[in-house]
Amino acid sequence: MLCYGVSEPNDKKDHMITALSQPYKIKDLDLRNRFVMAPMTRKQSPGGVPTSIVAEYYHRRAAGGVGLLITEGTVVEHRLAANSDQIPRIAEDTAAAWQAVLAKIEPTGSKTFVQLWHQGPINRPGIAARSVVEEGREVVVQAEGKALQELFNAFVAGAVSAQKIGFDGIELHGAHGYLIDSFLRAGQLAFVCDLVREIRRQVGPVYPLGIRFSQWTVRDFEAKQFATPQELEKTLLALKDAGIDFLHASTRRFWLPEFDGSDLNLAGWSKKIADLPTITVGNVGLVTGEFFGDGPQSKQELMRRFDRGEFDLVAIGRPLLSDADWCNKVVDGLQDEIIDFNDEALKVYP
Ligand SMILES: Cc1cc2nc3c(=O)[nH]c(=O)nc-3n(C[C@H](O)[C@H](O)[C@H](O)COP(=O)(O)O)c2cc1C
Repeated sequence: MLCYGVSEPNDKKDHMITALSQPYKIKDLDLRNRFVMAPMTRKQSPGGVPTSIVAEYYHRRAAGGVGLLITEGTVVEHRLAANSDQIPRIAEDTAAAWQAVLAKIEPTGSKTFVQLWHQGPINRPGIAARSVVEEGREVVVQAEGKALQELFNAFVAGAVSAQKIGFDGIELHGAHGYLIDSFLRAGQLAFVCDLVREIRRQVGPVYPLGIRFSQWTVRDFEAKQFATPQELEKTLLALKDAGIDFLHASTRRFWLPEFDGSDLNLAGWSKKIADLPTITVGNVGLVTGEFFGDGPQSKQELMRRFDRGEFDLVAIGRPLLSDADWCNKVVDGLQDEIIDFNDEALKVYP
C-alpha cells in the first residue's frame, strides 16, 4: 500500500526512472545518476564573485536529485570575456567563493563541473576568430598573434584554477557562437585542439574535460556548422584525439533528427562517431504534460533514444529553474507536483 509522500518501491518504478537512476562514470569520477543540470547564466555574482546565495541556488538543485551540476558559464580572465560583471569568473580572487559553493554541494552527493566561457564575438566590443564589422565599424576584432595567445592562456589558466579550486571536471563552452565556437565555425579547429591538448597536459590524464558544442547560435537558431555527419566527425575525432573526455551536444529539442536519412539527434550522432560519454539536452520535461504524454517530446521518446545508446546523460535546464526538486519528483513518481516552467522562473533566485 502506498502512503502519501512515500515513493513507490523500486520494482514498480518505470523504465525511465530505473535507467536514468543508474550511476555512471566519466573517467574515474562516479556520478550517482544520469541527470545533469544544464549550464544556465543567472548573473547573480556581483563583481564576478559567487555569493552564498549562489551556493544555495546550486545546493537546492543538487539536493533535488541532480547527479551532475554544470555551472553557468564562468568566464576566464580576459578583459573582453563577459558583457556583465554579474557573471561569475574563475580567477584567484574568486577561488574561495567557489570553494564555498562546492562545500555546500558536496554533502548532497552531486558532482560539479565548471563551464569555462568567453563570449567572443557575442560581446561588444569583442574578439573572435574573425572580425565582425557592423555599420562600417569593427565591433569584434580578429584574434591574432599576441591577442590569440592571451586567449589561449586565459583558458588554460582557468582550467588549472578549476582543478585547484576542486571542481570535479571542466566543460569548455564551445557552443552557441561564443569564443571557442567562433574558432570551430571559422575552420580553426587546430586552435581548439591545441587548447584542449594544453589543458589536458596541465590537468593530467584522468581529470574530466569535455566540450559543449552546437549547430545553433544565440544569434541564429537555424545556424548549422556541420552540414553532414562527416563534418561532425572531423571535429569530434580531432577533439577526442586532443584529450576531450565527454561531449555535450547542445540542441534545443532533443527529439529532432540532426541529419537526413536517420532519426539520430546531435547527441546520437556524436556518440556513434566519437564513442565518448555524451550528454543530450533540449526541452526535456519542459512541458510536464507533454513529457508524461506519448508524443515526440515524451519520456518514452527520450528513453527510446537512450535505449539505443544515443546518449549517456540527460541535461535539464529550465525545468530546474522553476522546480529545484524536478529530478526527485520525477524519480519518485510525483509528476503532479512538478512546478511547470514559465518565464517568471527566470526572475526567481535562488
Ligand atoms: C536562463 C538561461 C541561461 C543559459 N545560460 C547558458 C550558459 O551559460 N551556457 C550554456 O552553454 N548554455 C546556457 N543556456 C542553455 C541551456 O544550458 C540549455 O541548453 C537550454 O536551456 C535548453 O535546455 P532546456 O530546454 O532544458 O532548458 C541557458 C539557458 C537559459 C534558459
